[in-house]
Amino acid sequence: VERRGAAVKMRVTFEQAIDLLGEGKVVAVPTETVYGLAARLDRPAAIEEIFALKRRPKINPLIIHISDRSDCNLFVTSFPPDFDRLAASFWPGPLTCILPVNAAVPSVVRAGLSTAGFRIPSHPLTRELLKHTGPLVMPSANLSGRPSSTRADHVEEDFGAAFPVLEGGVCARGVESTIVLHRNEKWEIVRLGSLSPESFVPVLGYRPAVISKEDKEKPICPGQLFRHYAPRAHLILGDSLKREEAPFILGFRERSYGGSARVMVLGSLFSAEEVAENLYAALRQLDVEG
Ligand code: TXA
Ligand code: MG
Repeated sequence: VERRGAAVKMRVTFEQAIDLLGEGKVVAVPTETVYGLAARLDRPAAIEEIFALKRRPKINPLIIHISDRSDCNLFVTSFPPDFDRLAASFWPGPLTCILPVNAAVPSVVRAGLSTAGFRIPSHPLTRELLKHTGPLVMPSANLSGRPSSTRADHVEEDFGAAFPVLEGGVCARGVESTIVLHRNEKWEIVRLGSLSPESFVPVLGYRPAVISKEDKEKPICPGQLFRHYAPRAHLILGDSLKREEAPFILGFRERSYGGSARVMVLGSLFSAEEVAENLYAALRQLDVEG
């Protein structure tokens, strides 16, 4: 517990995180993509608590995080073609695979669907944690609709200074895992993320299609139907705004922007990775600046 001014911060140790999760509590933990709000798969009350804390619609399912590929054997009813190649190439890492599952996955986790998302995160602390806790369900550690958290401080902005957080530094990737599912004999991307569509070509031999428009009655990836990653600040994408009207510009290191706006540098024009790492922190900073 760390005191800074009036706020008491609940940074928990590795052992405390294991104990709290075992007691059926929700703990924020780091991953290489974004921080997650973790609950054990075998603690139903904690899973319910995740939805309440985030104010997350119950129709939006959660990803199951595991420490080893074999951990999904208990749940998955059949593995689609090339799943082994994907797992061998990208796990541990920022890839979530949607797979058909049995009733051992609680219905609330999969929002009543017959599938669930699985991934092995590569953050060393959380990989080690998973060996002690067993599978953890984790959505991103932000209030539903808000920018995700890439630092422990961000989690406290959304859930209060007293919320238990396992400190794991700044998330290296900075944006969520790429989510894929197998449909019509091919893998398809249902949520863009850290892994680009091109990065699948050497493994699958093709570039997976990106599903963008969804049927609202029968969504493929329910989370895509909701507003996402939005700061409270009025944010305009692109160059359409007259520069002098903007108090802040989120821009690139190599470019110069005229006018009196304060420029926040997201990174280099030539490094999507650097921009991804800083993106959510910059969106959150706009709100801190009012
Ligand atoms: O990088 C990540 O994936 C992070 C970290 C914490 O691992 N987690 C994350 O979880 O982004 P969340 O809950 O913020 O987003 C999960 C997305 C949602 O859009 C949800 O609809 C989708 O995954 N999803 C989960 N289960 C699904 C399923 N069975 N079928 C289709 N989409 C699913
Ligand atoms: Mg999220």
